[in-house]
Amino acid sequence: MGHPVTLGNDEIAMKVLINQEEIDRGIARLASQLHERYGKEPLTIVAIMTGSLVMLADLIRSLEMPIRISLIRATSYRGGMTSGELTIEDSDMLDIRGRDVLLIDDIFDTGKTLAEVTRRLERQQPRSLRTAVFLNKRGNSVVHQEPDYSVFEIPNEFVVGYGLDYDDLHRNLPYVGVLEEADIAAHRRQFGLSK
Ligand code: IMP
Ligand code: MG
Repeated sequence: MGHPVTLGNDEIAMKVLINQEEIDRGIARLASQLHERYGKEPLTIVAIMTGSLVMLADLIRSLEMPIRISLIRATSYRGGMTSGELTIEDSDMLDIRGRDVLLIDDIFDTGKTLAEVTRRLERQQPRSLRTAVFLNKRGNSVVHQEPDYSVFEIPNEFVVGYGLDYDDLHRNLPYVGVLEEADIAAHRRQFGLSK
């Protein structure tokens, strides 16, 4: 059972956690919540790359207010599943002073990324700043902040697809799948990677 995908030299069966139709409905739900909140007011979306790329592309095409897009890059996962130092690259940021801003990310896990980027954006004094994540992983948060909008809540499993990666792969899957511990361990052994 599950969708066949390639991981290293193996073909594994990926368990689908959230399918395409559910994702479409989830993004439509978020869009209508945002229409309710902002009406026809212009909105600046700050999207954390690379994970929120797919969500960004879908969401903006469901929104009717004037949209500005600003990309920043945050890297916290290095070479797999372990959480590394958080680095943020925001040199291309649009000016957000006095703007209504929505910060989006692929997943809220420990919450450190969203909390740190929120702190940075607040320094630029936007008119309002809210946060939306595609997935909210329960049980790992180490920060006091919660996202204002979560499209889906998921259990504490490692997921890929719809922008989310393992080792920079699988972002293009049109669904959210669970990557099993056993498959990851086998992949790491094949390539001599340490955990
Ligand atoms: P946080 O700072 O711990 O909340 O981590 C957020 C970042 O960790 C996300 O932007 C993802 O890049 C990555 N991440 C956390 N959990 C997963 C997962 O299950 N699959 C893929 N990436 C994840
Ligand atoms: Mg990421």
